[in-house]
Amino acid sequence: MIRTEQTGPILTITLDNPPVNALGAALRSGLAKAIARAADDISVGAIIVTGSGKLFSAGADISEFGKPLADPQLPDVLAAIEACPKPVIAAINGTALGGGLEVALACHYRVALASAKLGLPEVKLGILPGAGGTQRLPRLVGVEAALKMIVSGDPVSVAKALASGLVDKVVENAADLLTAAAGFADSPARPTGERAVSGDAAAADAFAAANPRLFKGFTAPTACVEAVKAAATLPLTEGMAVERRLFLELVAGDQSKALRHAFFAERAAAKVDDLPKDTVKRDIARVGIIGAGTMGGGIAMNFLSAGLPVTMVETNAEALERGAALIRSNYEATAAKGRLTTDQVEAAMALLTPTLEFGAVGECDLVIEAVYENMDVKKQVFGRLDAVAKPGAILASNTSYLDVDAIAACTSRPEDVLGMHFFSPANVMKLVEVVRGAKTAPDVLATVMALGQKVGKVPVVAGVCYGFIGNRMLIPRQDNALALVMEGASPEQVDKVHTDFGMPMGPFQMTDLAGVDIGWHRDETRIDNLKDALCAQGRWGQKTKAGFYDYDANRKRSTSPVVAALIEEFREREGITPRAISDEEIVARTLYTMVNEGALILEEGIAQRSSDIDVVWLYGYGWPRWTGGPMFWGEREGFAKIVAGLEHYTDRMPESFSIAPLLRSPQPEPVA
Ligand code: 3HC
Repeated sequence: MIRTEQTGPILTITLDNPPVNALGAALRSGLAKAIARAADDISVGAIIVTGSGKLFSAGADISEFGKPLADPQLPDVLAAIEACPKPVIAAINGTALGGGLEVALACHYRVALASAKLGLPEVKLGILPGAGGTQRLPRLVGVEAALKMIVSGDPVSVAKALASGLVDKVVENAADLLTAAAGFADSPARPTGERAVSGDAAAADAFAAANPRLFKGFTAPTACVEAVKAAATLPLTEGMAVERRLFLELVAGDQSKALRHAFFAERAAAKVDDLPKDTVKRDIARVGIIGAGTMGGGIAMNFLSAGLPVTMVETNAEALERGAALIRSNYEATAAKGRLTTDQVEAAMALLTPTLEFGAVGECDLVIEAVYENMDVKKQVFGRLDAVAKPGAILASNTSYLDVDAIAACTSRPEDVLGMHFFSPANVMKLVEVVRGAKTAPDVLATVMALGQKVGKVPVVAGVCYGFIGNRMLIPRQDNALALVMEGASPEQVDKVHTDFGMPMGPFQMTDLAGVDIGWHRDETRIDNLKDALCAQGRWGQKTKAGFYDYDANRKRSTSPVVAALIEEFREREGITPRAISDEEIVARTLYTMVNEGALILEEGIAQRSSDIDVVWLYGYGWPRWTGGPMFWGEREGFAKIVAGLEHYTDRMPESFSIAPLLRSPQPEPVA
């Protein structure tokens, strides 16, 4: 856990707790003892604290939260470091996050390797830095820069940290780090807590007023501001007490539990339980994409950005050119925002080979089909792929609903076939549902899961069924939303329940964005439901400036009198007398039904684990992270309450509706 080594008067303490040097109880205790011993030992003149492996430390051990924390507490260990009469120098050998950075902040000097990143990501776990981060960081960098790091949770580069005063010296080569740190051995002990803060409470309020986006929905950011204000106005010990109180309140709160769940859920999703440990992955040196539309182009960008060459195939030259131009303009827009250099744009574009030659995918190790969502078209593409793809190439379909086994059956190698369902915009949304067919080989699945992670995606395994995990859960939500409108609700009311809940948009806003005409039979004379009526009138959603809502030239949404009249007309036609619909009913029929569908998905083995379903909704649809995802939220809400709500409205649901037995089984105690 802790290694110590003395060279002359310098004692080096190394945090050694793989994989990320998390500051669990044993490490805290070891560190406290080592500091105490060094303080007492007259042969020690200075102390260096560093980390083993690639990281300095990823901070507190998150898995310890929610249980009583064993002594010593991290703030006490850090107080001892700060109070040490001998100089303590942090030699930051790699990324330092959360409590890890707080260790460094409590040291008297900080020397960092240029490649390291420094951050306080606690806010992303629904808490605030609880070991002096909110008190010491403002003393080094000022109120505004500190709040930027603490409230965004985003790490800064060492170059930035040097400029702001967070680190004292930067070292380019790891081999020089300890020597550079030893350069401070003769400097005086310099407690951070005794420094004055630049900036005041007003600066903290100004930061909050200027960054409303960082605060929306979450409770921790406001507490971060309060703690930093305490740093600006109170002596260290009193500020530390404010920080402690806020930390303990937050860590026990529902949001932090949900956000911690999301953290571990994301990491669990990467694991496929039944894959043999010794599965050898296939090499993927070049990726082929069939289709240069918005989806194909977005998918291609993931690989190009990660440095993987892409061959993009289209059937007509104009579409191909348009697709390649769209990729370029997306990259250039990112560069205009300062998030890419021109060189990076050119490097990514140089990896793209647009072609009209289908056979060109023969040199690819993975080919992703992103053509029109139609089974006959997909089958045809896979038949052709089978003829040209090299042996061992992985063949993936970006279908969002269709039967991957039926697609695989069009090839002579169903073991090489799976689904890779990207979400739009595919270069932005992190989720990829990796659809495992009945015959998909273990190494094919393992390869695609690892590749997904490598290119910065969050891959989640799903089994074959209509709509897989995410879109299947949309079905009861959308069906009920439409039925609720027929029965008396307005699209606005239904959408508002969802946006108040924290969803980025409600069911009707989403339909308008995706296209009301998706799945439409395209026969204007056949009007079976409200959606058909909208489609027949050309109200296809945002793209035609009219859907369930009206849209102006800037896509600003407003209530549509035309739709209101259409709804009236439909109710009359169906003999429905509209009634007042409560928000509770909307919750039961559009959110509880999703939890129910999730439970069915779990029972059928379509998802490996409940938390995978949460990850799908968090990363694919913007489900509010502070609720942990639909299944975590459902557990917190209580399955008994959900079942009661669903039973109450069962007679208003389609005949096919059934309550998942899993929701009726005894529920384990909610995670503390
Ligand atoms: N506590 C416990 N486990 C942790 C952890 C932590 N702080 N950080 C990472 N882990 C675990 C992961 O769960 C994973 O476990 P698994 O292999 O069993 O799934 C393993 O370490 C490796 O992590 P990653 O897969 O995430 O590895 P990466 O290399 O992709 O990323 C990382 C490394 C950037 C450090 C990333 O793990 C990370 O962001 N960790 C969380 C950092 C964080 O939030 N720190 C703040 C903690 S709260 C705190 O410090 C409170 C303090 O103020 C008192």
